Amino acid sequence: MCMACEMDPAKAEGFAGSIIEMINQGALGILVSMGHQLGLFDAMVGVPPISSLELAASTGLLERYVREWLYAMAAGRIVEVDISSTYFHLPPEHAQFLSRKFPGDNLALFAQYIPVLAGVEQQVIQCFKQGGGVPYEQYGRFHEVMAEDSGQTILGALFEHILPLVPGLLERLESGVDVLDIGCGSGRAMVLMGETFPNSRFLGIDLCEAPLTAARQRVREKGLNNVHFIQADLTTFCPEGKFDLITAFDAIHDQARPDLVLATVYDCLLDDGVFLMQDIDSSEKVANNLDHPFGRLLYSISTLHCTSVSLAQGGMGLGTMWGTEQANRMLRAAGFRQITENRLPHDPMNCYFVVGR
Ligand SMILES: C[S@@+](CC[C@H](N)C(=O)[O-])C[C@H]1O[C@@H](n2cnc3c(N)ncnc32)[C@H](O)[C@@H]1O
Repeated sequence: MCMACEMDPAKAEGFAGSIIEMINQGALGILVSMGHQLGLFDAMVGVPPISSLELAASTGLLERYVREWLYAMAAGRIVEVDISSTYFHLPPEHAQFLSRKFPGDNLALFAQYIPVLAGVEQQVIQCFKQGGGVPYEQYGRFHEVMAEDSGQTILGALFEHILPLVPGLLERLESGVDVLDIGCGSGRAMVLMGETFPNSRFLGIDLCEAPLTAARQRVREKGLNNVHFIQADLTTFCPEGKFDLITAFDAIHDQARPDLVLATVYDCLLDDGVFLMQDIDSSEKVANNLDHPFGRLLYSISTLHCTSVSLAQGGMGLGTMWGTEQANRMLRAAGFRQITENRLPHDPMNCYFVVGR
């Protein structure tokens, strides 16, 4: 028997404990997602210890389910319970990271990815055996959750942290420029920028019609005439004209052909234009990511979503953790020569590449 195969009982016991912890936390993650969607955390913020009857009444939900959810939250040490098991309290230190009442800090919204991904488990299992991928349409609430995610990560920091990464960009947007957003999803960044910079023109492109329907609805509600959306596959589609600013928010690595999309970005960018690419901050080598704070989540998202949506389109399937090394190589291969990497404290998951020709 090889030395490396000899059993260390303490290591085995520690590992079993960590797997039990993982199963416990994984299951709890689904209930955190539900608490977010049902407004249960929001209803508990700043409220003294509350019974399941009171919480059900204040949220308009059924007491029997609310009670069971509270029990799970208590077992998970997310809420505190009194000795009689009747009153439940969400401490302010926890509320800060679980409620919409604290925009920018809400971590509960990210828990929604767990059930979204679990929804395609069987299809991805089939892909392991037969190849191919799972198309976007199979991902249930994906675009909705993504819009909420980028609503917090992008919109909340756009004017204060993200756009100022490019010197003079806010002034150029004020005076009037052409902006293109690659893989715009629900288009919330374009709508917010369209509202803020009426002299500029904004175009969002995405493969999927569902988020674009939501985007166009928002444009109508706001009465904007400087924001437009096109449904197209960026693997082959090249928009007309040249742009001063091209953005891609978490939208390059899971494309079918990131190489072709980056080449399109290069072709569409004016000589003095800027490509602002927010994408996952990781190494292409898993050994370098073992201590990555979101590594487990991001490789799981990769297996269940980013790799499979790209392979479903016959694409490269780079995966979520394609790595900043590979991102740099691909940007250079597309022709870009000016590439800087930026990290922003509000968004530890991503790197912000400021790229010029
Ligand atoms: C991770 S989501 C990001 C969405 C959006 N940028 C945001 O931050 O909310 C990636 C987006 O890229 C789009 N996408 C994927 N493959 C595409 C393709 N071949 N052509 C155009 N869009 C594509 C998806 O539909 C999805 O909306």
